[in-house]
This record gives sequence, C-alpha cells and structure tokens, in this order.
Amino acid sequence: MIRMEKRLQLFLLSFTLSLLVSSPPGAAAVQLDPNYYANICPNLENLVRGAVVKMMSQTPVAAPATLRLFFHDCFVMGCDASIMIMSSDGSDEWHNPADFSLKAEGFETVLAAKAAVDGDLQCTNKVSCADILALATRDVVSLSGGPTWPVELGRYDGKVSLGSDVVLPSPDFNLDQLNGMFGSFGLTQTDMIALSGGHTIGASSCMFFYNRLYPGDPTVSPGFLLQLQQSCPNPLLDPNAFAFLDAATPLQFDNAYFRNLQQGMGLLNSDQVLFNDPRSQGTVNLFASNQSAFFSAFVDAMTRLGRLGTKTAVDGEIRRDCRFVN
Ligand code: HEM
Ligand SMILES: *[C@@H]1O[C@H](CO)[C@@H](O)[C@H](O)[C@H]1NC(C)=O
Repeated sequence: MIRMEKRLQLFLLSFTLSLLVSSPPGAAAVQLDPNYYANICPNLENLVRGAVVKMMSQTPVAAPATLRLFFHDCFVMGCDASIMIMSSDGSDEWHNPADFSLKAEGFETVLAAKAAVDGDLQCTNKVSCADILALATRDVVSLSGGPTWPVELGRYDGKVSLGSDVVLPSPDFNLDQLNGMFGSFGLTQTDMIALSGGHTIGASSCMFFYNRLYPGDPTVSPGFLLQLQQSCPNPLLDPNAFAFLDAATPLQFDNAYFRNLQQGMGLLNSDQVLFNDPRSQGTVNLFASNQSAFFSAFVDAMTRLGRLGTKTAVDGEIRRDCRFVN
C-alpha cells in the first residue's frame, strides 16, 4: 500500500511537472508512404496481421494495450518506438510512472510481429519497430471492429528513450488542458476528441478516476457511480481493481464510448469533460450518432498522430531487437 501511494504521488507529480515543461513540436521529418516496403518486404502487412491475430486470440488485453502503446510512443519523442527501449539503469520512458502502467501485452504484440517479420529472409532487420507498431495498431483497431486504413510507413527507430522526456495528458485534464497538449502537436480539438475515442476499448486502473468516486462527482450518472464504487471500494488498498473505459462494449471498437459520455458514463474526467464542455459537446454528439463520422475522424487523426517526430537514417536506425538500440 505504501508502494502504491508512492507510485500515485510520483504519477501526479509527473503530470504536474509535465505542465511546466514545454513540449517539442511534432513536425514530420520524412515523407512517409504506405508503399514504402513494397519492394523491401512485400509480405509485411500479412506477417504483422498474422502475429496480431494470434496475440488477440490469446488475450483480450493485446488490442487496447497496443493502441495505448502507440499513442504513448508518438507523444514522446515522436513515433520512433522509443517507448520500447529498456535501459538497465531504469532511465527509459517506460520507467516513468506515466508509462509504467502500459500493459506487457502491447509490447509482446509488437515483439511477436517483429519476430514474424524477421522470420521472412527478405525482411530480416529491414523493417523498423516504429512501423511494425504503427501497423499492429491499425490491425488491433480493425480486428476489434473499428476502421481500417492505409498506414504510412518509412519511420526509423529512435536511439534515445528518457523517462525525463515523458509528457502525457493527465486523466484530470479539462478541455483547455487537453486542447493545449494536443494542439502543441498540431492536432485539432476534433482530432483530440476522435483519438479519445480510443477509450472505446480497454480498461483503467481505479487510481486514475477514484477521485471522482469519493465524494461522488455530480457529472457521473448515479447508477454508474454506484457501479464504480463497487468496483473500486478502496483503490489504494487494491491496486489491481479496474473498470472498463467503455462499460457498454469494452472489447468492441465502436462509438459506444461517445454515447456513454452523453449519459454521464465517461470513466475518466478527461473523457466526461468532452461532453460536459459546450465547446466539444457538438462533436461528441456527432460521433455518438454517426459511427462513420467517428471512424473517418479517427483515421485522419491516427494518420496525423503517426507523422509526429518521425526519424530518418540520419537520426535513427532499424533496431534489431525492439527493446535495445543496436
Ligand atoms: C486524451 C487524453 C488521454 C488521457 C488523459 C488518457 C488516460 C488514460 C488512462 C489514465 C488510462 C488507464 C491506464 C491504466 O489503468 O493503466 C488509459 C487507458 C487507455 N488509453 Fe488513454 N488517455 C488519453 C488518450 C488516449 C489516446 C489518444 C489513445 C489512443 C488513440 C488512448 C488509448 C488508451 C487505451 C486503448 C487504453 C486502455 C489500455 C489497456 O486496457 O491496456 N488514450 N488512458
Ligand atoms: C455520417 O458521417 C458520414 C461520414 O462523415 C457521412 O458521409 C454521412 O452522410 C453521415 N450520415 C448521416 C446520417 O448524417
């Protein structure tokens, strides 16, 4: 319990600090291309998808964990798989409390896909972990019932991963804070709302929303509040307690997340605020009533997210093992 409190303190501290540090602009450094590997590794997309299908059949955590991994990678030092680098001294991104809760299944999905790709002699050590993560992310979304889209490719893997660089949004953010952080990466409010729709799959540990339960946040619907209080009787005593981000269809990539928000059933404050703030409510209502509109905005936003801070042969490499720089 002491450890948990410590972790929570670190977690809150890191978000407070993150507000003080200016985030780097995420301008694209290379021209990405969906056909980048057409001659280098023609079977790439099938190899990745095969590994993803297998992982998803083994555990329902693979899909949400991979999607969240991609987001956390792209927001810190760009989409360069720096989130996957493990340093023996614990100075890497993953050891930052804001990333430490990333589930192993996301890393395992990318490692399995990388092994499948490298098993094809034409492809061995020619496809970046960053691109494999981007492809695996598209696949977990579409295999969960979401949209599919051509993934832009040609990223190199970063060589630097520092926990001190980690700047990520807090679940306690209000709309201005969310827009401020996403805006610093050139993403619009609509992009931010569509990307938040990633919370249509997966779960959150109680520690990220327990402050809304005791005393009850009036913007949480009364029935949902009771349900959450039962799931999270004392989050500090039970670090494993969790709730689904989309209580209606937690494994299905659909627009139920937005319909939940209309009913006061958003799990995190940063979710519910998208409906509660009149400046973003219209977009939530649109996505809640029209799933195609959500899917098309999500694809646009994921494509823009995927262009952040991409590396080239000059400042990157094709990592042999996604966990270590070459
Ligand atoms: C808008 C700001 C965001 C905030 C404040 C936020 C915060 C969180 C938090 C606190 C969790 C629970 C983590 C845990 O219990 O370990 C979570 C889970 C998750 N997030 Fe976000 N997130 C945001 C945006 C996004 C975006 C843009 C995506 C992807 C497009 C995303 C995808 C996910 C997924 C899929 C999960 C479930 C992970 C799992 O079940 O393993 N989130 N997020
Ligand atoms: C829903 O959104 C799609 C995609 O933006 C659009 O083409 C369609 O006309 C919308 N449908 C309705 C009923 O408004």
